[in-house]
Amino acid sequence: MKSFTPELEPINFEEFLSFLSPLEEFKEFVETLRNIARKRGEFLYFVGGVVRDYLLFKTQGSVTLPQGQKDIDIVLEGDLEAFLEEVLKQIKGKVLFKSQFLTFKVKFSLRDHELIVDFITARKETYPDVAVLPIVSPGSFIEDILRRDFTINTLALGLTPPYEEVIVDLIKAKKDLKQGIIKPLHLKSFVDDPTRIFRGTRYATRLNFRFAEEFYQALEEALKAESLKKLTPTRIYNELELFVKKEPMNILSELFITTCELGVFKELGFNLSKEKVKHGVELFIKVKENIKAKFWTKALLLFFVKEGEVKSLERLNFHKKEIDKVIKALNRLKELNTEEEVFDLLENTENWILFGLISKVKNKGKFIEEYLLTCSSIKPEIDGNTLKSLGVKNGRLIGKILKLIKLKKFKKELKDKKEELEWVKNYVSQL
Ligand code: CTP
Repeated sequence: MKSFTPELEPINFEEFLSFLSPLEEFKEFVETLRNIARKRGEFLYFVGGVVRDYLLFKTQGSVTLPQGQKDIDIVLEGDLEAFLEEVLKQIKGKVLFKSQFLTFKVKFSLRDHELIVDFITARKETYPDVAVLPIVSPGSFIEDILRRDFTINTLALGLTPPYEEVIVDLIKAKKDLKQGIIKPLHLKSFVDDPTRIFRGTRYATRLNFRFAEEFYQALEEALKAESLKKLTPTRIYNELELFVKKEPMNILSELFITTCELGVFKELGFNLSKEKVKHGVELFIKVKENIKAKFWTKALLLFFVKEGEVKSLERLNFHKKEIDKVIKALNRLKELNTEEEVFDLLENTENWILFGLISKVKNKGKFIEEYLLTCSSIKPEIDGNTLKSLGVKNGRLIGKILKLIKLKKFKKELKDKKEELEWVKNYVSQL
């Protein structure tokens, strides 16, 4: 293997730890890990996002972080299972998950707090075919760095010798970080793993970085090898789900637009337009509270695609049954004429589907939009019992009247209980 002369930068370790967590017990936790690795003579290091973001934070004074808790990835060049056995003797914790990729997710109980950490074995990866998951085997620190996606994610911070409390830069990554560049490590990077195109888009957008020339060249190679086409629907969907769930909402439309501009959706068989993405995201931000979070990504994708592309959404991990439901709701929506019928359909269709259909039914889009904005707050104040006391005995009629009241409240024709009662009395008297 080519030899590397690492560039080393000592850092203020306390400051780094405080950046990761303000908890005193976190510092003690890291100290325990270090001592165990030191005794075992194994190299332990932080790598990737936390080191990258710390350096950005230090130089810029602030950095945009992904949503939620910071992912803490700690890598060991050595026998991770034996290392963790010793760690768990000294710190209370539980392995939540052990993956085939030599990684462990562990939940620790640190006095008053819980902490989840991903431990990874330093490893090398070989890709047996285009766009399939790699074969992973334990490797050296250098191999572990060189298997990574982008230069800015290769910076490591050593916890034990030979690189204690220094940032190790093997491939001049700090220069790219300083210049704000997203550069893959080699031109076949996206042939091996096309999900990196989505990842790169997230970094470029979140950090306000630009793509290096090599990014576009690697993309060209991936398109030539048709690697995006070979990616499984689940893997594509997981990446899009990260757009929606992991990234700050204010960059959501840019994430999708950049992905479009890179030609990714076209390659996957979809023709998304910039305007539709912008409009969809703006609307989504207004109504998302009324859509179940597990359907957010699907709601947006359905909104973005053209009517003729709905069937192809299987490619983006939609289930057949979901697509059937969408098509059925769309066809029905087009047929219906009266507000009462449309309202009834809205009441009986999942909100994520309604959201996606807004872009497909010209004249009824506004009505659906208004419904999604207000549906959780429109509830008749009178109930079935009140109707019974007014002489309405028939169960189906009670249901119909309650629905009509809801529609009238939605249209702001009835304000309060008094108006509801008046309207019902009048309605019943005309039956
Ligand atoms: N990685 C990679 N290729 C992938 C996925 C991950 O090389 N397809 C490497 C990168 O070095 C990355 C690290 O694994 O830095 C950890 O991945 P992840 O936790 O997904 O990203 P972070 O770097 O922590 O970035 P962030 O959480 O800020 O998105």
